[in-house]
Amino acid sequence: MTGQTLLIVEDDPGLQSQLRWNFDQYKVQVADDRESAIAAIRKSVPAVVTLDLGLPPDPGGVSEGFRTLQEILAETPFSKVIVITGNNDTHNAVKSIGLGAYDFYQKPIEPEILSLVVKRAFRVFELEEENRSLARQHFAYPLRGIIAASTEMHEVCRTIERLAPTDVTTLILGESGTGKEVLAHALHALSPRANGPFVAVNCAAIPENLLESELFGHEKGAFTGADKQVKGKFELAEGGTFFLDEIGDIPLALQPKLLRFLQERVIERIGGRKEISVDVRVVCATHQDIQKLIEQGRFREDLYYRINAMVVSIPAVRERSGDIQVLAKAFLARYVEQMKSKLTGFSETAIAAMECYSWPGNVRELESRVKRAVIMSNGPLIDAEDLMLPGGKPSEKITSLREIRDSAERQAICQALSECNGNVSKAAELLEITRPTLYSLLTKYRLKI
Ligand SMILES: Nc1ncnc2c1ncn2[C@@H]1O[C@H](COP(=O)(O)OP(=O)(O)OP(=O)(O)O)[C@@H](O)[C@H]1O
Ligand SMILES: [Mg+2]
Repeated sequence: MTGQTLLIVEDDPGLQSQLRWNFDQYKVQVADDRESAIAAIRKSVPAVVTLDLGLPPDPGGVSEGFRTLQEILAETPFSKVIVITGNNDTHNAVKSIGLGAYDFYQKPIEPEILSLVVKRAFRVFELEEENRSLARQHFAYPLRGIIAASTEMHEVCRTIERLAPTDVTTLILGESGTGKEVLAHALHALSPRANGPFVAVNCAAIPENLLESELFGHEKGAFTGADKQVKGKFELAEGGTFFLDEIGDIPLALQPKLLRFLQERVIERIGGRKEISVDVRVVCATHQDIQKLIEQGRFREDLYYRINAMVVSIPAVRERSGDIQVLAKAFLARYVEQMKSKLTGFSETAIAAMECYSWPGNVRELESRVKRAVIMSNGPLIDAEDLMLPGGKPSEKITSLREIRDSAERQAICQALSECNGNVSKAAELLEITRPTLYSLLTKYRLKI
């Protein structure tokens, strides 16, 4: 049981020392009021907490005890809290369980019995931990070549895994640089078609008049300059996966032909007369809002229904909790090795600036900023300036008043936390809000302290 922390929340000095002595086999921490209990929890998460309901300023009542219980569980929902109530106070004991306490114990305290209750609570905590860790092993890993720690991205990875064995047409949505192509590739690599080709065509990168030939191929003499037969990319993807990137940019004139291919899996080369059947799995991607394109008459609705059988939405980097630092560190390690640099990490201001920045270019931008910083930095740590990041300047692409407010709020929080060296109480004071409000804003903006 070593290393497991027991937090005793008790205001009576006599009982405090009795309990401390009684539980000397654990790492014991003692708190005598709500504030110090929460402070202790933030320092090291206890496996088990014993909580006296009668705490100052209401030692004779239960109000402060219940408040403490709720705050403890909000901070550390996995800790096992044993509530210690007055003699025969069954009503409040039951109420505690209702609020989420693990168990209760009625005074007077008999050390041996309380020891058993605490021991069992440790055991339950351990088992639950084991369970959580197994669940993490099962579900919380990214795919090969994908760097991600956030649950948002892990969910995307699980979806890709589930879709991989199927042949269903898949649409990958996400802002520029979020990893649409890497995920399309991962989908292919995990599929039964992995040994077949992965052929990608970017509809936005090929001039409109050449795209049809690129996709479907042409026969000799089909048009001026067609001096030999050329197979299209659909044909070249036979037996594999065809990645149609930036499908939002596909010209309207070409859409019926694409729709026919998706429905019947046959193509006709330009200038050709025969139908050629092709066995490919189609994955499409776009950073555009296709619904809007439909409204504007730039995208056929029937084609949309063909491609959106399965939609995978990749969150923007700023919406992934915890990924910014993980990605930055991985790219740093990559370029430090490549460039034989002596840099060892990021400064605190660099980390704060990265967390505050909105990353409109997502992973691609993050990678290129880190790469540049590795070249430019004098070390040993990369600073915000090396990343050319404003100290938390909000996104320039603002579309609504709400976004402006959110962005300003996020920036103010980052700044306050940075000024207070991550001290939440001080930052809350500076911002003239309560600490719980600050915590909920940290969650809202996915900010880590
Ligand atoms: N989770 C990730 N882990 C590691 N590298 C990533 C990750 N996501 C993206 N990348 C890298 O970032 C770059 C951009 O990824 P990708 O080309 O897949 O993005 P995209 O969404 O297709 O962007 P665009 O819309 O601009 O085409 C690539 O170099 C890719 O390898
Ligand atoms: Mg792309």
